[in-house]
Formats: sequence, structure tokens, C-alpha cells
Amino acid sequence: MFLKKAIVATLFFLPVASFASEGEKIYKKCAICHGLDGSKKSLNVSEKIAGWDADKVIKTLHSYKDGKIDKYGFGKMMMGQATKLDDNQMKVVAKFVEELKPAKIKKEMKDRHISSEELKYNAFLKDYFKKNRNGTTKEAKQLWRKHLLETTK
Ligand code: HEC
Repeated sequence: MFLKKAIVATLFFLPVASFASEGEKIYKKCAICHGLDGSKKSLNVSEKIAGWDADKVIKTLHSYKDGKIDKYGFGKMMMGQATKLDDNQMKVVAKFVEELKPAKIKKEMKDRHISSEELKYNAFLKDYFKKNRNGTTKEAKQLWRKHLLETTK
């Protein structure tokens, strides 16, 4: 009897759980620029996206993907991000963005002890994109690795 209940409960909760974690997984890439809790103005230009209506996020991502918007001169950068997402991934990440609540997430992140390495990398990336408007995340990653190798020698 107990087992049966447990199985039913698992079946019920599983899809919800995987939905949430998939959005979080995708958002990790966005977090580099928009902040772990979505409360960062990306490159000091964009709006804080935490809590945006999911439909608005989806619409905006589509517009970037189609090259239709370039709000602050970094449209190409967002186009590169949006192009990597299919419709379903956009939906899932949009839902995650909608549910981002800065104060709450900040506390969760603190509890999870986000590594200082990650924070340093974020700061490095931000600096990189400030200096290289047409830079790519790939190149930034290479430079970061080089930087790490040099500083740990
Ligand atoms: C490399 C840095 C970077 C990454 C990664 C990134 N963004 Fe952005 N994002 C930006 C910048 C810069 C802008 C402003 C673009 C412009 O000039 O229109 C922006 C704009 C946006 C906007 C519109 C904000 C506004 O002010 O209108 C949304 C929504 C958004 N991004 C969502 C996302 C999502 C979701 C992801 C992950 C799939 C993501 N971004 C990944 C840098 C980034």
C-alpha cells in the first residue's frame, strides 16, 4: 500500500521536476551575462530579465533569433544565444526566467556555495564582452583557460 502510494507520487512529480531542471540547465548559459538570478543588467545595457512574463521572453528570443531586434547594439550577441535554442528549449527557459525571484534565488545560490571560480569566470566574461563587442563565448572560454594556465603555473 505504501509502496503503491510512493510510486504514484513519483510518477506525479517526475515530469515537473525534470521540466524545472531542464530550464535551469539551459539558463546556466544565460546566467553568465544575465546573472544567476536574472537580476543583472547584461553588459550594463539590458533590462533585468528576472520575473519577465514567459511569453515575453519567448517572443524576445524569437525576435533575436530572426535578427529582428537589436535594442542596445548587442543584438548579434543575443542572436547567437537564441539560435542555439529550439522552440521547446525557449519555452522551458522562459518559464524558468519567469519564476526567477532575485532575493530567493540569491539565498539558494548562497546556500549552494557557488564556487568563487565561477564568479571570477563571470567577471572575466563580462569584461571580455565589454572589450570585444563581436567576441564569441568560445574565444572567451579559450582566453579564460589560457589565463588559468598562466596563473596556476
Ligand atoms: C554573452 C552574453 C549573453 C548571454 C549568454 C545571453 N544574453 Fe540575453 N542579452 C545579452 C545582451 C548584451 C542583451 C541586449 C541585446 C541588445 O542589444 O538588444 C541581451 C538581451 C536579452 C533579453 C532582452 C532584454 C531587454 O532589455 O530587452 C532577453 C529576454 C534575454 N537577453 C534573454 C536571454 C536568455 C534567455 C539567454 C540564455 C538562453 C540569454 N539571454 C543569454 C547578453 C547575453
